[in-house]
Amino acid sequence: MVEPARATRTGAGLAEPVAPVAGLPPLILVADDLPENRRLLARLLEPHGFRVDQAQCGREVLERVAARPPDLILLDLLMPEGDGFDVCARLKRDERTRLIPVVVVTALPGDTEKLRAIESGADDFLHKPISQAELLARVQALLRLKRYTDELEHAEATLVTLSLTVESRDPYTQGHCQRLAAMGVGLGRRVGLPEESLRALHRGGYLHDIGKIAVPDAILFKPGRLTEAEWAVMRRHTVVGEEICRPLRSLAAVLPIIRSHHERWDGSGYPDGLAGEDIPALARILQIVDVYDALRTERPYKVSLRPADALAQMQREAEARRLDPRLFMLFRQHHDDILAALPAPASD
Ligand SMILES: [Fe+2]
Repeated sequence: MVEPARATRTGAGLAEPVAPVAGLPPLILVADDLPENRRLLARLLEPHGFRVDQAQCGREVLERVAARPPDLILLDLLMPEGDGFDVCARLKRDERTRLIPVVVVTALPGDTEKLRAIESGADDFLHKPISQAELLARVQALLRLKRYTDELEHAEATLVTLSLTVESRDPYTQGHCQRLAAMGVGLGRRVGLPEESLRALHRGGYLHDIGKIAVPDAILFKPGRLTEAEWAVMRRHTVVGEEICRPLRSLAAVLPIIRSHHERWDGSGYPDGLAGEDIPALARILQIVDVYDALRTERPYKVSLRPADALAQMQREAEARRLDPRLFMLFRQHHDDILAALPAPASD
């Protein structure tokens, strides 16, 4: 690794100081099989305050990223042990690394490689020979975007923590959010939903009941039947949850899940009394796995049903048109596979 250099504001094309990420100057991973190319990029970047890490092959890029995630990667396309296309695609498929900007640095002429790199998920391109001004301008622009997405991620992480705090108030529902996220994604995948919707389902698993933060314990954990007034408070967790998450635009696709996960196929649910396909599809998917998990969970007033009994109960719900019948059938068909992907329960 090349040691960090002090930030300076001199140099072509750098119109603003290098803004630190998480208190440190941004870390750039330079990936190229030729040492002279890596040295050249390090020489261009370090005087402007960037820290530079280096990798000489595809395998080493993945190792470096896992060991010390960079803020941006400058990636050569032709490298041994995993070329740039392959490395880029793998980074962009992985939930933990997909937001790291990847700039492909190539001497290859023509559009074919560029198109392949775009398909692999590359965020930008630089052509050799590299202009320092262009390099600095692109790196700065992508780092600005990265800071913005990092801030959003932190805000989302805070909301997820809040949601897990809500869950932890109830010892009977431990692991519920995590199971719902995994099962929701599993069912969504069988429906053939795109990655973006699967991500919304994953977040929805964690955030769907965040509005319960506004429900008093006396209602949330009341052993007996709720009064009509108490039910009114309980039902509000859907709209309160939506209000909590609405300011984050990155959660836009999750809001319908939070608001509508208690709607019923026959229109008897809440908060809007939607029916059939008027209920957002992602909310219907989450509802299927939510109902399943509730039936499988022991409560003070009921035992945990075995999987076959839970499915039989849901079959009756679907026949009574309280659950989306087609989604239920898909869930039942793929039940074993969806459950096989669940995280193992934490041991005591
Ligand atoms: Fe709920």
